[in-house]
Amino acid sequence: MSVKEEMQKRRTFAIISHPDAGKTTLTEKFLLYGNLIRNAGTVKAKKSGKFATSDWMEIEKKRGISVTSSVMNFEYEGYQVNILDTPGHEDFSEDTYRTLTAVDSVIMIIDGTKGIEAQTLKLFKVCKMRGIPIFTFINKLDREGKDPFDLLKEIEDELGIQTYPMNWPVGMGKRFQGIFDRQRDQFIRFSGNEQEIPIPKEELDNYPELVENETFQAAYEEMELLEEAGEQLDMEAVQQGELTPVFFGSALAPFGVETFFESFISMAPQPFPRKASGELIPPDKEEFSGFIFKIQANMNKAHRDRVAFVRVCSGKFERGMNVTLDRTGKTIKIAQTQQFVASSRETAEIAYPGDIIGIYDPNVYRIGDTLVEGKNTFHYEELPQFPPELFKKVTAKNVMKAKQFKKGIEQLVQEGAIQLFRGVRNEEYVIGAVGQLQYDVFEYRMKNEYNVDIVLESIGERMPRWLKEEQVDQKLFDERSMLVKDREDNYLALFKNEFSLRWFKDKNPDIELIDLFEVNQYSQ
Ligand code: G4P
Repeated sequence: MSVKEEMQKRRTFAIISHPDAGKTTLTEKFLLYGNLIRNAGTVKAKKSGKFATSDWMEIEKKRGISVTSSVMNFEYEGYQVNILDTPGHEDFSEDTYRTLTAVDSVIMIIDGTKGIEAQTLKLFKVCKMRGIPIFTFINKLDREGKDPFDLLKEIEDELGIQTYPMNWPVGMGKRFQGIFDRQRDQFIRFSGNEQEIPIPKEELDNYPELVENETFQAAYEEMELLEEAGEQLDMEAVQQGELTPVFFGSALAPFGVETFFESFISMAPQPFPRKASGELIPPDKEEFSGFIFKIQANMNKAHRDRVAFVRVCSGKFERGMNVTLDRTGKTIKIAQTQQFVASSRETAEIAYPGDIIGIYDPNVYRIGDTLVEGKNTFHYEELPQFPPELFKKVTAKNVMKAKQFKKGIEQLVQEGAIQLFRGVRNEEYVIGAVGQLQYDVFEYRMKNEYNVDIVLESIGERMPRWLKEEQVDQKLFDERSMLVKDREDNYLALFKNEFSLRWFKDKNPDIELIDLFEVNQYSQ
C-alpha cells in the first residue's frame, strides 16, 4: 500500500477529560472494539494496580510514578487507530500538554453530572490554540445530570466553541431511554444490556409505550426544535476546531459508545500537512519526517535507557533507516525502535504518518527535534512553551555540589522535563511545572543521575504573565508579583493570585501583561 493509502487509514487522537469523567472506561471500550483486550476491566485493573506487571510497570511502581502506556494502537474496520494517552490526576505534566501537539484530533469527555471541570478547561485551551478538531462525548447519561441544553450552552460559553449535537438524549438517570441519532434519523433504544436497538424514525409509532411516554415526548420536542433551527453540521468548522460535534452516552453502560466511536472514526481527520521551516509538508511526501514530542528517561532500569517519542509526519519509516537530525545536521541510523501497544512495547519495523514510534535515545535528542530522511532537512514548528502554574525555588542541599547541580538542571531543562526561571532580585533558581509529578521526577533524577540532593521550597501556584522589557521597573514587584526571567531572558511576573494580578493591573494600567496561552493562540 502507498504512503497515501496508509495515511488515509490513520486516526491519531487523544482523549482529554477531568479525572473521573470516564476516560479509562471509554478507552477500555475502544480497546474492546479493536480486539486489543478481551475483557472489560483490564484497563481499569491496570489503573488500580492489579494489572500484570511488566518490567516497565515495575519501575513505575518503585518510583511511585505512573508512566503508564503512552500510546495504544489497533485496527478497527480498516482504520489504524492510534490513541495517545494524556495522563491525568497527579501525573499531569507538560508531557500531557505536549502530547496534544502530536495528535490530529481530540475526544473531550465531559461528565454530564458535573459539566466542564478545571482540567478539561486547561487541556481544551491547548487544543484550541493549536486548532485541533475536538469531538465531545458527554458521559454518564445513566445518572441524573445537567440538562442537555445547559451543557451545550456551558461548552459554548466557557470554552468558546460552537456545538452541534449529533444525538439527543431521551431522559437521564432512571428515566433514561435512549438517544435519537440525528445523522441516521433513528432512535436507539436503551434496553439495559449491551444491545443497542435502532428504530427508524418512521417506525416509532409501532412503539406506543415509547411515544406516549412523557419523557420521550419532551425529548422529541427538543429534538424537533433543533431540527427546525436547521443548522447543518459544518465539517469545515469542525476541522478548524471552531465547532465540536457532541455525542451523549454512557461509557459504563455502555450506551452510545460504539456508534460514537464509528462516527468519530469516520469523521476524524487523517494526518494533515504540518508547518515546517515556513512551508507545509504534506504527509504523503515520499521522505520520512517526524518530530520528537516527548522523552522518557529510564523506562527500563536494566538498560538505563531513554526513549524519544516520534510522531511520524510524512513518508514511510523503516527500522534501520538513516535520518538527519535537523538541529545538529548529523546522520543517525535508527536501529532500535518501539511501537507501543497497550502495556507492551513491540518493535516497530515500519510506520506511517500518524503513527508514533519510540526510538532509543543515547542522549542526543531533545523535545521539538525534527528527524528527516535524507539530507534536505527542515524543522517542524517549535512546540510552544506551556505556561507553568506551580513554582518552587530550588537549591542544592550541599553547596559543594554546585557544579553537578547546575549541570543537572541545565540538562533537565533542555530535555523539557521542567522550566527554569531566575529571580531578578537575587538570582535564585525557580522551577516551573504544570503538575506535581514533574517535581517528583526532577528530584529523583537529580539524585539518581547527577548525585545531587536538592531542596525544593514551594512558592505555590502562580499566574505567570510575561512583560515587555522596556516596561520592567523592579520597584513595582514584590513577593506577590515575583519578578523572574525565563531561559530566553524574557521578564515575567509570578502573581500570587487573581487578586494580586488585578491589583497590579489597576495600579499600573500601562504595563502590558502577556498571558502565554493567549499569545500561543494568536500566533497560530
Ligand atoms: P477517568 O479515567 O476519567 O479518571 O475515569 P474512570 O473511567 O476511571 O471513571 C471514573 C468513575 O466513573 C468510575 O467509578 C467509573 O466506573 C465511573 N463511570 C465511568 N463512566 C460512567 C458512566 O457512563 N456512568 C456511570 N454511572 N459511571 C461511570 P468508580 O466508582 O471510581 O470506579 P469503579 O468502582 O467503577 O471501578
